[in-house]
Amino acid sequence: MAKETSACKAHCLILPYPTQGHINPMVEFSKRLEHRGVKVTLVTTNFVYKDIQKEGSSIAIETISDGYDQGRISRADNFHVYLERFLQVGSQTLTELLEKLSRSDFPPNCIVYDPFLPWALDVAKKFGLLGAALFTQSWAVDVIYYHVHKGELKLPLSESEVLLPGLPPLEPQDLPSFLYILGSYPGSLEMLTGQFFNIEKADWVLCNTIYELEQEAVDWMSKIMPLRTVGPTIPSMFLDKRLEDDKDYGFSVFKPNTDACLKWLNDRPKGSVVYVSFGSLVALEVEEMQELAWGLRMSNSYFLWVVRATEEAKLPKNFVEETSEKGLMVHWCPQLEVLAHEAVGCFVTHCGWNSTLEALSFGVPMLAMPQWTDQSTNAKFIMDIWKMGLKVPVDDKGIVRREAAEHCIREIMEGERGKEIKENAFKWKKLAKEAVDKGGSSDKNIEEFVAELVRS
Ligand code: UDX
Repeated sequence: MAKETSACKAHCLILPYPTQGHINPMVEFSKRLEHRGVKVTLVTTNFVYKDIQKEGSSIAIETISDGYDQGRISRADNFHVYLERFLQVGSQTLTELLEKLSRSDFPPNCIVYDPFLPWALDVAKKFGLLGAALFTQSWAVDVIYYHVHKGELKLPLSESEVLLPGLPPLEPQDLPSFLYILGSYPGSLEMLTGQFFNIEKADWVLCNTIYELEQEAVDWMSKIMPLRTVGPTIPSMFLDKRLEDDKDYGFSVFKPNTDACLKWLNDRPKGSVVYVSFGSLVALEVEEMQELAWGLRMSNSYFLWVVRATEEAKLPKNFVEETSEKGLMVHWCPQLEVLAHEAVGCFVTHCGWNSTLEALSFGVPMLAMPQWTDQSTNAKFIMDIWKMGLKVPVDDKGIVRREAAEHCIREIMEGERGKEIKENAFKWKKLAKEAVDKGGSSDKNIEEFVAELVRS
């Protein structure tokens, strides 16, 4: 897929925040650039580089340091300390990398950076490079943080309804969790609002979303900054099929249990399986995990549940053995292939933005169980705006009970609301494909980005 260096028109460094949910969209965007003749170098941290499984990818990788080469964030006293050190050591090692690359045959002329690391833009500017922020959460979420950054959405929240331009009326619990549970993760809110602190220096502001999905929010912000939607950043072979080798993100921190999952799904009837995953970071409370396990069992559906190795001990005793006729549990799965499989009828999800976009793009109805950060906002949009799923109600301890889980699974798999959701799902699936296909909204934006990159 990569073009020969001599034929390349520009060279972009791509710098994701070093977690799976941020690496995936950045890698996928990189492939769209490569396809248009741009040379791409992915930059990750020394710690992540050690674990990354680079399957069949032609993208070059370089590393910098976040100051914790032996253990990333777990070695820092808290998240604030981690970010401070990442800023200092990251800026210094990115500077060293740019010095090295500036002596190469084909020095970079642009950095596409994750705005979780806004200092990367300052480093780019010191070298006279172009800078493009690539936002990896929904644009609605970004609009909310923008208003907090500007002091236009005051904290603590005092109103029962939040009205912001381009967004539907939101209740406090529809906002990202860091805003309605202030102080819940020190450092996180600072990082998220900090995405905008130097944004006026960015030459482009890109977002992994679909224009038609968030039109009003995007239109509003486009008047303030050079915003372009470039999503969904999902391997091409699942959408427009124009990048022939692009069947997988290609950079995985976890190893998927591919054969077991696909073989098991192949033996299940169409639309009969509930797929359950909470992404790469979320850790459920033991009680919530056990309630969900019971809810799945009571729903009587087949289920494929990703339980990361670190979460396994929270399952009810003997659950795996006792449900082996109905369920398959794995530590990590090839989620794209699973969601695209015709046996899957519903996705019980934490509503991470990648999982949300993937389910939208494959037309899989969602059962939202948001846990923290942007997931509450994504869940609101899934249920009430895009009408592509249900949000499972929680009790007064904030826990999804087994009866609620069972009821919602049955609603989607067998109920009347499930039918309406499936019709909407079909609509979003079509729209996602059109956005990245030739002449679609994201395709045109990427085309324009590359054209300006080459001209500059
Ligand atoms: C994090 C945040 O939690 C999320 O809210 C934010 O929007 C992005 O960063 P994460 O929790 O990992 O990400 O969730 P998500 O955004 O859904 O990303 C998970 C990725 O891992 C998806 O691309 C998904 O396809 C992949 N995945 C997940 C697998 O490939 N296999 C699995 O078994 C589970």
